[in-house]
Amino acid sequence: MSPVVSLSDLAVSGRTVLLRADFNVPLDTDASGGRVITDDGRIRAALPTIQSLTSQGARVVILAHLGRPKGVPAEELSLRPVAARLAELLGQPVAMAADVCSDSAKAVVAGLAPGEVAMLENVRFDPRETSKDVGERTALASHWAALGDCFVSDGFGVVHREQASVTELPQLLPHAAGLLVAREAEVFTTLITDPQRPYTVVLGGSKVSDKLGVIANLITKVDRLLIGGGMCFTFLVAQGHAVGSSLVEEDQVDTVRGFLADAAERGVDLVLPTDLVIADAFAADANTKVVTVEQGVPDGWMGLDIGPESAANFARLVEESATVVWNGPMGVFEMAAFEAGTRAVGEALTRVDGMSVVGGGDSAAAVRLLGIDEAAISHISTGGGASLEFLEGRTLPGLAVLAKS
Ligand code: 3PG
Repeated sequence: MSPVVSLSDLAVSGRTVLLRADFNVPLDTDASGGRVITDDGRIRAALPTIQSLTSQGARVVILAHLGRPKGVPAEELSLRPVAARLAELLGQPVAMAADVCSDSAKAVVAGLAPGEVAMLENVRFDPRETSKDVGERTALASHWAALGDCFVSDGFGVVHREQASVTELPQLLPHAAGLLVAREAEVFTTLITDPQRPYTVVLGGSKVSDKLGVIANLITKVDRLLIGGGMCFTFLVAQGHAVGSSLVEEDQVDTVRGFLADAAERGVDLVLPTDLVIADAFAADANTKVVTVEQGVPDGWMGLDIGPESAANFARLVEESATVVWNGPMGVFEMAAFEAGTRAVGEALTRVDGMSVVGGGDSAAAVRLLGIDEAAISHISTGGGASLEFLEGRTLPGLAVLAKS
């Protein structure tokens, strides 16, 4: 990927800076019906850029989305709770506009003093944000461009999207990548172009079909590919093992067989679990036992975590690596009975003497939920789909538009 324009190249002092952030955070409802943020990792990750801008005397106007409201305002997807949490973390007020680009947005921006922060309402409340029509997207971006002097892109989780606030707005204003986007781009560029070896990638999560592009690209670059989580069962079926009622994507068995052959031909160590924690129901209080892959999963039972022998083996291979990327949990870590594999891999990442990267989405949530020492991991990505597309080797439109000319 070409280098992106960096924040230090942009004059922001005394100017109004439009900042695209990814504040698409998980929310829950509390006892009184209020919405609470269950993981504020993405908000915390944006603080350095926001603070850099405010400390230089910029007026900061944040554009962000929450969920997929499909162009229609929806009370439950308002960014108000996010603005409230951001204000707590920054230790200063965040003025919240009631609309995306109309009277309230204009009034809130006009009322900002240097060093102050505002947030506009969920950009996806306007159908033009996600429109397929570039003219419609540009029309929306023009409204925002009229509110500010320059644009900073710091929502790494959305750089794989062609959306008005990601790809059109930077074409209308002087722009730069924020500190988060610059760091993410640097880390992922290293992972796909210049990793230290041995290079190990750990993949998990439920669906192998979500990771086909990643496997196809990484198999040409890595030394070891460790596969756990729900997706491992399609591989185990391809090898002829009995997997009971475990999650299998029958239509991917042939593709997966191709990956096994390709890995063998290239000398890539494709490592699957040798044992499994199985359960008689998908439930926290199900009956459980450990079986070897050779024994197989009996009918009526399903694998919900990699077993202890596999967890120890995965952890050892991770620790022995100079570069590790992990994307996708090893089991149903939200249930205590099936968290051990994910915990073992997460903790092994903290012991890597080199570069350790958590590829966003569920694995980043797992690191925080399981209380794994985040500071001992080189980088925890804020991108779910974006980090996967980066690892697939695709061009991300929201980064391409920030490239230095
Ligand atoms: C994410 O949660 O991965 C990003 O915010 C992108 O959201 P999207 O998949 O709805 O575009």
